[in-house]
Amino acid sequence: MWNIILNIVVDATIIHIMIKSNQEQKVDFLPLLGTDYVEIYVSNARQAAYFYKTAFGFQSLAFAGLETGMKDRESYVVVQDKIRIVLTSSLQSESLIGDHVQKHGDGVKTVAFWVDDATEAYHKTIEKGAVSYMEPKTEEDAHGSVVLSGIRTFGETVHMFVERKNYSGTFLPGFMPWVTPEFNPEPIGLKYIDHMVGNVGWGKMDQWVNFYANVLGFSQILSFDDKDISTEFTALMSKVMSNGNGRVKFPINEPAKGKKKSQVEEYLDFYEGEGIQHVALATDDIVETIHQLKTRGIEFLKVPDSYYDSLKDRVGDIDESIPRLKELGILVDRDDEGYLLQLFTKPMQPRPTMFFEIIQRKGATSFGKGNFKALFESIEKEQELRGTLV
Ligand code: FE2
Repeated sequence: MWNIILNIVVDATIIHIMIKSNQEQKVDFLPLLGTDYVEIYVSNARQAAYFYKTAFGFQSLAFAGLETGMKDRESYVVVQDKIRIVLTSSLQSESLIGDHVQKHGDGVKTVAFWVDDATEAYHKTIEKGAVSYMEPKTEEDAHGSVVLSGIRTFGETVHMFVERKNYSGTFLPGFMPWVTPEFNPEPIGLKYIDHMVGNVGWGKMDQWVNFYANVLGFSQILSFDDKDISTEFTALMSKVMSNGNGRVKFPINEPAKGKKKSQVEEYLDFYEGEGIQHVALATDDIVETIHQLKTRGIEFLKVPDSYYDSLKDRVGDIDESIPRLKELGILVDRDDEGYLLQLFTKPMQPRPTMFFEIIQRKGATSFGKGNFKALFESIEKEQELRGTLV
């Protein structure tokens, strides 16, 4: 009897140790509190800020430039709920910002993560093989202090770590509040960044998947091969990386061989390198958000009307009116956990590079695999018009 009890106690202890060691293995060494901001280098930040406010319903938040002691750049920060976008232009001909815009056109330079300890985040990622962009630096003003550090990722894109627990200012030291009481168009229901997608070169997807896994502690949550994402003419592959708490998700695409040039190749050609392909903005009411965006002049990819003929068979019952979704061109997909609605803008700048996705999740945690074919055929139509589907 005592033997049995002893065995049970020993077994329970072993199980406990096993569970504990599993838990320890899963400890998130880089806890990210969320996306702090996304910085886009543009040729005219002042006009871009006006566009993001007018068309996307962002609000003025902060400004940095000559008036705040910044000699080489001008930055406008716009905000909508948890989304902060920084639009930055150079004030000089010879500058890294100007070089970036010259080479890539307007594009995302920085995806900044909100962390509790930017010094630790920097040292831990550097230890694991990250290339430094900015060593930890404390910046202060009358509202407290912020610690900033940064590492490089694909192309010329960087990740900054922002520690702001000792700061109560509007955005960051060096910025002043940007107040425009006479001009703040209504927000349109955008809530947070759902995910951001990186386009990397031929055969480079796994290298960058390993970077997010090993250096930032992300896990791969989904994978699509060229059979999942292909049309008659073009193909791509994608793996979706997520951080420990799921607040930051990074699908990474690479081109795959098809009969013609895929959208990822077109991006790589025009961006002249790897970079952020799209930023997905979440809304709680996609019908209203898309309606607002369309009335404010934003153009979207269009799928054929026939997409809606079989929609009910594909996705079952949904809360939204299918005729209304068809009218606005909104796409729907279902997975085991629920469904999602999504739509993609046309590129945001003259080069066919960065664009936005508007997404509403109703339980679904996936990325709209059921829409890939219709979407990519729609993208090919656009490529054909641009003469790049060759
Ligand atoms: Fe997406």
